[in-house]
Amino acid sequence: MSSRILRAAMIAGLLVTASCSTGGRRETGEGTKVNKESFGKTADGAAIDIYTLRNKNGVEARIINYGAIVVSIKTPDRQGNLGDVTLGFDSLDGYLGEQPYFGAVVGRYGNRIGKGLFKLGGVEYKLARNNGENHLHGGIKGFDKVVWEANETSVDGAPGVELRYLSKDGEEGYPGNLNTKVTYSLSDNNELRIHYEATTDKTTVVNLTNHTYFNLAGKGDILGHVLTINADRFTPVDGGLIPPGELKSVEGTPFDFRKPTPIGARINDKDEQLERGKGYDHNFVLNRSGEGLTLAARVVEPETGRVVETLTTEPGIQFYTGNFLDGTIRGKGGQVYGPRTGFCLETQHFPDSPNQPDFPSVTLAQGERYDTTTVFRFSVEASR
Ligand code: GLA
Repeated sequence: MSSRILRAAMIAGLLVTASCSTGGRRETGEGTKVNKESFGKTADGAAIDIYTLRNKNGVEARIINYGAIVVSIKTPDRQGNLGDVTLGFDSLDGYLGEQPYFGAVVGRYGNRIGKGLFKLGGVEYKLARNNGENHLHGGIKGFDKVVWEANETSVDGAPGVELRYLSKDGEEGYPGNLNTKVTYSLSDNNELRIHYEATTDKTTVVNLTNHTYFNLAGKGDILGHVLTINADRFTPVDGGLIPPGELKSVEGTPFDFRKPTPIGARINDKDEQLERGKGYDHNFVLNRSGEGLTLAARVVEPETGRVVETLTTEPGIQFYTGNFLDGTIRGKGGQVYGPRTGFCLETQHFPDSPNQPDFPSVTLAQGERYDTTTVFRFSVEASR
């Protein structure tokens, strides 16, 4: 059993606790607010709402109950100008169409499972193969493409929204009814906190993450952003981006981000791993001294001074440089999203863990509770 999974005596109470939904504007603490507005309807007629979380500094995160998607995050630059630091769309249509997981919660298993096959208790499960011969991000209709039930909430006085989704036994090939809850909250310390919880009625695998693409300048490519990743090792991949199991030292490779380094400094180096990913699309093994939230990554955009730090309880982080963005998507304000115009920091268990007994376990049994937290903390760095 993985350390992130806590035995919960009162599981029944965990995910069925109702919370009140008042609609409209709700005061959650000292001047912080959740605002709920309509964002349109799906083709099936499901109502989609957009929840705006705002803190006392004017920092704002907007979330919809389709895909539990983060539509935008506005943070100040060095001059105090608020700007959106995420890729996405101005309206629901963009999210309903083919799109590369902008802002979404991905699950039931974020990242890849080799050949879409794994075994639990001697039974082989077959998942959809939606990425070549492999399974990616929960399958054809993953958690990024479902309607979640949303309620405004507050977390330690911070405005929040909680989203629930029941993934049925057999959905996309996974065993067990999975009761999932994701809670976003925005603190006055400019921390967007994502709390993931789940329980099952049959042993299954779970790996939830958020697929927000960041661009702290709000335009252009992300090659000049300066990145630090708290990882001595990463998991190299085969041609299908599946890790065969090795944990490789970053020392002397373009994967060494232990000191702040521009993302673009080595991205075009002649390196088999970078060639396989068409850039960075790799899981880093986080250095940690114990359980709990640890700093995984820090990114600074030198021109605006904007900073995002990622803290997580997870053992890994997928650093993806938007290599598959090909300029065919027109996003917010008509912006064309070409290659490397956004980066993702997907906190997670390692790819293909169900088939790698030496990787931290992603198995969740009946009576256990999946409970992980990731924080995106925003700030500005003083002028150089
Ligand atoms: C993940 C994967 C990438 C790519 C993107 C979506 O980050 O690791 O290979 O599939 O999602 O385009």
